[in-house]
Amino acid sequence: MVQYDGRDSAVREAGIPVKVFDDYETLSREVAGMVDRVVRENPGVAITLPTGETPRGMYNELVQRINAGDLDFSTVHFFCLDDYLGASIDDPTSLTAWLNEVFLTPANLHGDHVHFVPTTSPDPDAAAIAYEAEIQALGGFRLAVLGLGPNGHIGFNEPGSSPDARTRVVHLTDESRTQNAQYYEGTPTIPDQAMTIGLGTLLEAGEIVLLVSGASKAEILKASLEGPMTPDVPGSFLRLAGDRVTVMADREAASALS
Ligand code: GLP
Repeated sequence: MVQYDGRDSAVREAGIPVKVFDDYETLSREVAGMVDRVVRENPGVAITLPTGETPRGMYNELVQRINAGDLDFSTVHFFCLDDYLGASIDDPTSLTAWLNEVFLTPANLHGDHVHFVPTTSPDPDAAAIAYEAEIQALGGFRLAVLGLGPNGHIGFNEPGSSPDARTRVVHLTDESRTQNAQYYEGTPTIPDQAMTIGLGTLLEAGEIVLLVSGASKAEILKASLEGPMTPDVPGSFLRLAGDRVTVMADREAASALS
């Protein structure tokens, strides 16, 4: 269990490694290489990877490796990280449909090893607890690759989230709904509730990669790594994972770091 007692100075001073790459292509290849290594070395473990614009390059690289026969992804348990409440894989404006289009179908990954966020359950709170139990039954995550929301969210652990939060139903901020609407043609209305793997669950992963790209993320990355550790910026709690977390960023995203 990750402990947070409100005092952040010791953790902040310890810092976390930041690997900066020249461009998005190199960043994507390096993160895919890291996923590749973990999958190769740890067959049968649980991992989670994010959705969003940032990981597209990583997924393209993974799909190439899988289709070339260089990487066997069928051995890992892949858990979807988050999705809108009530949205299923058949709903074109869901994160699971996005993931299906970008990764699962091109890589031909289907079946028991792919775990979908149970957003369509008639009892979402109970389903979230059961999803958490599925993760724990596999020993928790061996790897969590995470993106950083413009407001510092991790998965859909929005500002105000506790660092020991578990998988649950959450309310989305207007900022995140606006951000997510841009993923789809016609900018649809995004539901105001979602289900996300909990920040505490993610912080317990054996290895954590925060994948960040672009100048628009520079200030929130700085706030996450150098600002106060606070629920206002959920990304700041990544520092609680100490040397299990690595930030992998391109030069633009890292441009505000001191
Ligand atoms: C989204 C997702 C997160 C993602 C983040 C960053 O809303 N819920 O899991 O990591 O926001 O997205 P992007 O890479 O598009 O900036």
